[in-house]
Amino acid sequence: MQIHPTIAGFRAALKGAGRVAFVPTMGNLHEGHIALMRQARAHGDSVVSSLFVNRLQFGPKEDFGTYPRTFEADCEKMAAVGVAHLFAPDEREMYPAPQAYFVQPEPVQADILEGEFRPGFFRGVATVVMKLFAIVQPQVAVFGKKDYQQLMIIRNMAREFALPIEIVAGETVRAADGLALSSRNGYLSEAERAEAPRLYRALDGVRRALEAGERDLARLEQGAMAELRASGWIPQYVAVRKQLDLQLPAAHDSRLVVLGAALLGSTRLIDNLEV
Ligand code: PAJ
Repeated sequence: MQIHPTIAGFRAALKGAGRVAFVPTMGNLHEGHIALMRQARAHGDSVVSSLFVNRLQFGPKEDFGTYPRTFEADCEKMAAVGVAHLFAPDEREMYPAPQAYFVQPEPVQADILEGEFRPGFFRGVATVVMKLFAIVQPQVAVFGKKDYQQLMIIRNMAREFALPIEIVAGETVRAADGLALSSRNGYLSEAERAEAPRLYRALDGVRRALEAGERDLARLEQGAMAELRASGWIPQYVAVRKQLDLQLPAAHDSRLVVLGAALLGSTRLIDNLEV
């Protein structure tokens, strides 16, 4: 695997790489990331990944400074799964001057759910992904359903800007007890790690109730939040939405997704399940 810290070096090396399938990451790789890279292999001649902890998408009180940085181990994992080129810029390469142009999704997409609790998050994500797309110029890009709203926003961005990039979704990879893999799971104490799958179980309870025909969404959402609260969590939202645009479903809508975010101690966990 070739590692490229500069845009110029990366671009030169990519000539002749053929059809490029791209998996952007912030590193600290786990099986969820690796599964996306494996999936990318089926979509292109060369798998390209990026590793960049993007300051723009972190709020002032969030964990930018402490976000786990495990470059050597990440490189070994990427090489083992067949990544041909890794673009790994430092901050000065990616943002030589403070970024002055942004991709700002409409509030109806960016200020709901995650965006309500992380103001500016999707502006930071959309901006860096647009920039990475301009640098990598992939034919295909793979994103995980674990970050369901992020996937929707990137899809819409690619469509609205007519980017010639196919956006492919990867299924959420979970631990045996149901907990969705996440770099932030590393923040959990042993006791919190044992408690953490309750978020998945609460969302799964909502999913099963919906599949059994229950249609009082507010009651299901409130019930799941109460269950989390009773076990010491601080839930931020549990919401049943349409898969397509994450807006409120009408009575006849069938393709739904249950999304949730909650704090366990000081760690913020998110998850979702399609119905
Ligand atoms: P990061 O959190 O590193 O995630 C990189 C990719 O891995 C994303 O597409 C994410 O949805 C996916 N992913 C994370 N956990 C997963 C799991 N358990 N199963 C399947 N896929 C999983 O998401 C970002 O980085 C950043 O916002 C980024 C897109 C790189 C822009 O900075």
